Amino acid sequence: MSFGNLTGKVAVVTGAAQGMGKAIALGLAQRGADIAICDIKKDELEIACAELKNATGKKVYMQKVDISNEAQVNQFVSDVERQLGKIDILVNNAAIHPLHAIEEISSDEWDKVFAVNIKAHFFFCKAVIPGMRKRKFGRIISISSEAGKNGGTVAAVHYAATKGAVLSFVRNLAQQVGADGITVNAIAPGRIETAMTATATPEQTQKFLDKSIIKRLGSPADIAYAVCYLASEEASFVTAETMAVNGGTLRD
Ligand SMILES: NC(=O)c1ccc[n+]([C@@H]2O[C@H](COP(=O)([O-])OP(=O)(O)OC[C@H]3O[C@@H](n4cnc5c(N)ncnc54)[C@H](O)[C@@H]3O)[C@@H](O)[C@H]2O)c1
Repeated sequence: MSFGNLTGKVAVVTGAAQGMGKAIALGLAQRGADIAICDIKKDELEIACAELKNATGKKVYMQKVDISNEAQVNQFVSDVERQLGKIDILVNNAAIHPLHAIEEISSDEWDKVFAVNIKAHFFFCKAVIPGMRKRKFGRIISISSEAGKNGGTVAAVHYAATKGAVLSFVRNLAQQVGADGITVNAIAPGRIETAMTATATPEQTQKFLDKSIIKRLGSPADIAYAVCYLASEEASFVTAETMAVNGGTLRD
């Protein structure tokens, strides 16, 4: 049985200039989807766009977007719909994680983390759902974290709170759109080797390896494979779910 062919589909991936977002965009394009990527880092985004085009031969549209800005999100979504015709798959991936203790977190920093890590999911979903409802098909995948379930092993309190919010966000939204063929799911990665975790001390990394069954950190591709499944036609009966991809560090 073969599954996961995304030919003819259009996917949006946020925060795709690097790390998991870039790997997710590559995975979706390798399965046949045309891709629209955005990020706040323009130079890295341009490099990622060229790499994705060269590696897959698919259409890749890019735009610099601050996803915490609703006007920029709406402009991007309408530009993607004009350039690529529609949006079938949305991957809410971008996030920030200032690793600060509670005493060091300002009110502005708290609001910024919430704006990027969860409010932007609301902006994007609100913008893409009308088109998905019309076509009776949609796949929305929001990247949460193990920290959203257990508070985190090495995580800041605002980050963990936003990642918990992602889980209830998808469970609610799934109920609102399911009858129109739209699924909404979360992925809760464990420790993945990206820029977000590159500054960790060996002791912090060891904490994850001690808890891991698989005894390695995850790669961005490990998350991309899970996204590609949830984005597929064949995952139509999976919704309001949180898929753990963590090497067994959290078993719940
Ligand atoms: N790396 C891990 O161990 C880990 C674990 C669990 C969950 N996650 C989650 O996985 C996702 C991807 O993480 P990553 O490790 O690839 O992180 P990363 O920091 O490497 O990449 C995040 C991307 O988001 C972009 N971004 C940040 N703010 C933005 C904004 N306002 N507008 C547009 N783009 C913005 C960044 O420029 C960056 O390219 C995040 O949601 C993260 O919370 C990561």
